Amino acid sequence: MTGQQRVLLGVTGGIAAYKSAELVRLLRERGCEVQVVMTRGAREFIGAATLQALSGRPVREDLWDAAAEAAMGHIELARWADCVLIAPATAQCIARLAHGLADDLLSTLCLATDAPVYLAPAMNRLMWAHPATRANCGTLEARGVTLLGPGIGAQACGETGPGRMLEPEALVAALLEGAAPGPLSGRTVMITAGPTREPIDPVRYLTNRSSGKMGFALAAAARRAGARVLLVSGPVALSTPPGVERIDVETAAQLDEAVHARIRDCDVFIGAAAVADYRPRDYAEQKIKKSAASLTLALDRAPDVLAGVAALEPRPYTVGFAAETNDVERHAREKLERKQLDMIVANRVGPGRAFDTDDNEVLVLWPDGSQQAFGQAPKRELADALLALIATRSGLSGHGMRP
Ligand code: PMT
Repeated sequence: MTGQQRVLLGVTGGIAAYKSAELVRLLRERGCEVQVVMTRGAREFIGAATLQALSGRPVREDLWDAAAEAAMGHIELARWADCVLIAPATAQCIARLAHGLADDLLSTLCLATDAPVYLAPAMNRLMWAHPATRANCGTLEARGVTLLGPGIGAQACGETGPGRMLEPEALVAALLEGAAPGPLSGRTVMITAGPTREPIDPVRYLTNRSSGKMGFALAAAARRAGARVLLVSGPVALSTPPGVERIDVETAAQLDEAVHARIRDCDVFIGAAAVADYRPRDYAEQKIKKSAASLTLALDRAPDVLAGVAALEPRPYTVGFAAETNDVERHAREKLERKQLDMIVANRVGPGRAFDTDDNEVLVLWPDGSQQAFGQAPKRELADALLALIATRSGLSGHGMRP
């Protein structure tokens, strides 16, 4: 979407409703027409007069308002919108939409519109994590609704965790730039990110130092490039980039299963996760006691997710990463060839390098022997450059040739 668009902004009853005023202001500043629709609950948190003054339009609140319906009925409003953004979207609102209720103006509009619907969830972290909310979000996403956020951080209830509404600037960027046509418009990109955890007993696991920053930066960049993005992530403390669909996993086996469940729809696969190569052979149901002087753990190979994707027929354009301490280029080229990849991104690891850093330095290799180096830069910038290369080299952008 570009500026000059008609945004129907739904505001529901959460404390984050105070941010809706700023959201209206920013959307107007970017040239959008904004029509606010408030729920009854929203009125407890923010006055209609504020939103009316900022949007320059009377706020609509009631399905049964005869005067307002005479001016622009709910069906007309649904047709008027180029997109519907509900911010904040409470757990209650998400549940109602998932169940197709139509007992107030906002839920009725959402049923009556064929414009894209975006939700900016805002709720307590436990409400967000509740299986009912997870299932409702899954239902809505499967119907094509896009979730923007939530963010992670301090919450109004005093707790910390996922559930904060994204800041208005991030929502506007997602709405106006995230869906902009780009070189990967119409394509689906799957990215793995973060570490895996391989349980030893109920309190211990094997893991690594990956923060997920590189993979999440790639997901945001793929979205900026216009793609539909599936992000399969190990345990990390990062917010989901706006417009990205995230699937959380813990172990290499779960990652493998999540990837293969959706890979058939994907045009590109990027393996940025630091996946365990080995996992404990046995899981101790009870905590292992420190009785003996030493302990030996038997480890078995974990599934190689990347090699599994590369072996599919047909397969997506398959991009691996190589994290190496030494002989970076040699080891990376060996992985590129052994796993039959289309492209590999090599990074040198060590104290303050690659893992859990904001910057990175990479060397990209292709099977035809060509390569390209990128000096130290923020992961966000590298991610944009890598996605541009992938779009061109894969031929998916329509401008390039598959090597
Ligand atoms: O997450 P950050 O803190 O931002 O750090 C970024 C990073 C260093 C993790 C990232 O840039 C990176 O290099 N990711 C790959 C790490 C890794 O596991 O490299 P590897 O050389 O061991 O694996 C090679 C490739 O095989 C990788 O694409 C990996 O995802 C994949 N693999 C590995 C093992 C396995 N069992 N399954 C796999 O799919």
